[in-house]
Amino acid sequence: MSHKVTFDVVGDPDIINFGIGQPSADLLPVDLMRTAADGFLEKASPQDLNYGERQGDPLFRSALAGFLSSEYRAPISADALFVTAGNSQALDFVCSVFTRPGDTVIVEEPSYFLAFRIFEDHGLNIVPVPLDENGMSIEALENVLTRTKPALLYTIPSFQNPCGRSMSTECRQRLAELSRAHDFIVAADEVYQMLWYGSPPPPALGTLADQGNILSLGSFSKILAPGLRLGWIQTAPPLMERLLGSGVINSGGSFNQFTSLVMREALEQGLQAAFVEQLRETYARRVEVMDESLQAHFGDRARWHKPRGGYFFWLEFDEGIDTTALRASADRFQTGFQPGQNSSSRGALKNCLRLSFANYGEDDIREGVARLARLFEHSGTL
Ligand SMILES: Cc1ncc(COP(=O)(O)O)c(C=O)c1O
Repeated sequence: MSHKVTFDVVGDPDIINFGIGQPSADLLPVDLMRTAADGFLEKASPQDLNYGERQGDPLFRSALAGFLSSEYRAPISADALFVTAGNSQALDFVCSVFTRPGDTVIVEEPSYFLAFRIFEDHGLNIVPVPLDENGMSIEALENVLTRTKPALLYTIPSFQNPCGRSMSTECRQRLAELSRAHDFIVAADEVYQMLWYGSPPPPALGTLADQGNILSLGSFSKILAPGLRLGWIQTAPPLMERLLGSGVINSGGSFNQFTSLVMREALEQGLQAAFVEQLRETYARRVEVMDESLQAHFGDRARWHKPRGGYFFWLEFDEGIDTTALRASADRFQTGFQPGQNSSSRGALKNCLRLSFANYGEDDIREGVARLARLFEHSGTL
């Protein structure tokens, strides 16, 4: 099927649209960025405005390596990092370097809906593998691998979009082994790895980069600000060489030199580490509020797991409820969500929906869930 669903931009301010997976305005840190930018510009030299090294500025990578080593509680070296313009761009770049039209990409079912469009841009054949309690079902994957030879496998190992589940440590290890045994590349989208509320998830797939064909994609979008368009790929030497051989960076150098130099300052001053700590506290409270509101309004008609990290609640209704059809009437009730069907590469999961708690404060979450309940209550009459 063709995936024509588009980016869900902020529209009517009177609508509480839980379909938007972006941070609320109060969580976008203008003061932090001013401090970092001032700090950088005070000591900037003209060369800082030149092209950057293909792999990214070495001092930025070293500051990032320090931050990641502390967050991942595992040593990450600056040499293993490659600067990107965020995970969307990184995914597109990975497809350019490692796939050809007609190749197969394995994805989770369900998965991040906008990634499907990137794979389609590259003419890839999308093959879904279901999730189980431990993230992508390794058993189902092994079964698919008996009849399919993928070039790429796309996974969101921690606090998956949309389900919020995390892959177990054993499954992460097995996936690394399978990538070597079957010679495919794993693009691990680790955007939510640091957003845990309670206890951290299993170690990032990037910490297994020496044990498999792993590219760990990280981004500042969810831990600082999406508008920075800054991220990284962490990988081991053979795959790093393939990235560095690409024409686009040999022409243009680092994908985001200037912003990375500003972010170096934010990392070195400890601003990023403190900010992510604050986000974990804020989002943890929002999860509690959304869970309580859902219990009050949907307790007897939907099933969900309270997320331990990331951005999303994933609700499952009885078969027969069509959330895609309901979405069409959501504006009338000044509410919104992502229909489950959008997250399915085969157009299934119509009885599910995704809610993000990132874009609204606690009062709006309470009010938005009450409106959602009204939409469902009137669904028989719509
Ligand atoms: C799983 C996943 N990957 C990637 C992105 C986008 O990442 P970036 O802003 O770094 O391009 C998102 C944003 O919603 C996401 O949920």
